[in-house]
Amino acid sequence: MSLNQQATHLKHREGAPAGTRYIAIASGKGGVGKTILSLSAGRCLAESGKKVLIIDADFGLSNVHLMLGITPRKNLAHFFFGEATFDEITVQVNDNLSFISSGNGIYELAKLPKEQILNLVRRLQELAEDNYAYVIFDTPPGIHEDTVAVVSSADFPLVITTPEPTAVADAYALIKIINKENDVKDFYLVVNKVESEREGAKVYESIRLLTEKYTTAKLNFVGTIRYRKSLIRRIIEQNPFEKGFMGDVYNILTGMDVEVAPRRRSFWESVLARLLGR
Ligand SMILES: Nc1ncnc2c1ncn2[C@@H]1O[C@H](COP(=O)(O)OP(=O)(O)O)[C@@H](O)[C@H]1O
Ligand SMILES: [Mg+2]
Repeated sequence: MSLNQQATHLKHREGAPAGTRYIAIASGKGGVGKTILSLSAGRCLAESGKKVLIIDADFGLSNVHLMLGITPRKNLAHFFFGEATFDEITVQVNDNLSFISSGNGIYELAKLPKEQILNLVRRLQELAEDNYAYVIFDTPPGIHEDTVAVVSSADFPLVITTPEPTAVADAYALIKIINKENDVKDFYLVVNKVESEREGAKVYESIRLLTEKYTTAKLNFVGTIRYRKSLIRRIIEQNPFEKGFMGDVYNILTGMDVEVAPRRRSFWESVLARLLGR
């Protein structure tokens, strides 16, 4: 295909009514439930008949494969450096759910020559958007530049915290930085490991007060997930889908209106532009 044809092809996809939605799951602090939420949300959407791709972008504590008991041999970095095809890095969990491990692929990508980056990003976009209705990023905690780029570019920047004061403070810090650096306004908040809805609402209230006072961000509180002791057993058994947890996640996705959100600019080009500071 010529470059021109490629461009038309991409444009057509961007204008398609059912564009791929990108959800980035982020937190200030580690251990708050990003990975389990990524998996459960992926499973939930997959069960409703959508094709879902989870990208494990937490290169420091890459855990998606551990929770599922499937280890991919190659990751996104191999794809970027021509050492593996997209199919070879994709692990099929079931008919509708797949995952790939990013390794430090997204960070490494930014080091390549610009023309090559653009081509790779276009190919990745095509492959992702031809095959998946949702792409979910499980990101590392904190404010690495590639996390900030991914979260800032997503249709749904979803911040998860627990009621622990340190986790709450770090969640606010993350929102504040991304809002200040990249002018991202709409954030989605989930409070995990709560004893009651009320406990979650209090956490939301405390972060909302700060974001309203010191940032231009708008916080959409999309729900809580109860602390469930039995989840740990499920994770040990590498079948991490606990019924109650999945129920909470279902409610969260419903509250986020994932079906009807408007599509912003191209996710991948936005990630790159932010990483390269353009
Ligand atoms: N709602 C919950 N109830 C009980 N344990 C939970 C809950 N959510 C997460 N956990 C536990 O917290 C730990 C961290 O979860 P994980 O998804 O790996 O967090 P992260 O990816 O943010 O580091 C896991 O061991 C998991 O069992
Ligand atoms: Mg994790």
